[in-house]
Amino acid sequence: MSFPPNLSPPLTFAESDKSPLSIRAKALVFVDPRSRQLRERAEALAPGNQALLIRGETGTGKELLARYIHRHSERGGLFVAVSSGAISPQWGEAELFGHVAGAHVGGASSRAGWFGSANGGTLYLDEIADLPRPLQGKLLAALETRELYRVGAGQALPVDVRLVAASSIDLARAVAAGTFDERLYAYLGDGLLELPALRQRVGDILPLAEYFLGSHAQRLGLAIPPISSAAQSVLEAHPWPGNTRELENVIHFALLLAGSAEIGAEHLQLPGTP
Ligand SMILES: Nc1ncnc2c1ncn2[C@@H]1O[C@H](COP(=O)(O)OP(=O)(O)OP(=O)(O)O)[C@@H](O)[C@H]1O
Ligand SMILES: [Mg+2]
Repeated sequence: MSFPPNLSPPLTFAESDKSPLSIRAKALVFVDPRSRQLRERAEALAPGNQALLIRGETGTGKELLARYIHRHSERGGLFVAVSSGAISPQWGEAELFGHVAGAHVGGASSRAGWFGSANGGTLYLDEIADLPRPLQGKLLAALETRELYRVGAGQALPVDVRLVAASSIDLARAVAAGTFDERLYAYLGDGLLELPALRQRVGDILPLAEYFLGSHAQRLGLAIPPISSAAQSVLEAHPWPGNTRELENVIHFALLLAGSAEIGAEHLQLPGTP
């Protein structure tokens, strides 16, 4: 058996966010009082090494907040973002912890694994409840002992990894249902950051809309159009089930429709509008 070469890598991002050349260090637009409070909590928790859990609906900005925390930490290593659901039950241990050359999973070459790649940095695990169950205990052991075993290796390697996990579901329920490791849940316990849905922080809606308008207009070489007051009211009243990601898409599309003219309510393609 060899490690399947066509496995789609769960890694979505690995670079030092501290690099001045990083083009990925996007702004975190947090204007609503609830968001400001959350930013303060994130800044207070950032310098420590304890594990954190970011709870929030899809598209609320969990990954962006995790990057923000990494940037405000004192950790010089990489921010490694991994989608837990993309870690296969069959090959997951090698994906997460790596393997040595000649291991039954690996063929001729060795492989570092996501956990080792985050050494000195931050491992961001998206939708942690989707991590295959047997790996949950192994993850906890590596975090607690600060040692990892590559598949096929006889000796442990010292590692220093900070875990920032994200979840859109209530992990307490997953523990009660027996699908999530109780000890891993307890390990994440104290570091909870609740990211409210966009409809619960209405004060962020227009600042975000303007931010996305500015960045897309700049990219398209357009002047930044104003948003009519009718359109502003529509944006503030929409429930945003897809949260900030949905808002960005709506604004992007409105810009394409309106060009540099004022953005009106008729340019906002929302469910229920023609
Ligand atoms: N406060 C914010 N300021 C600026 N951009 C934001 C903010 N929140 C979210 N975004 C942008 O919205 C998009 C979705 O954010 P992100 O991917 O971090 O959400 P997520 O909660 O991880 O989503 P998912 O649940 O789908 O994994 C990204 O393009 C992100 O840059
Ligand atoms: Mg995400």
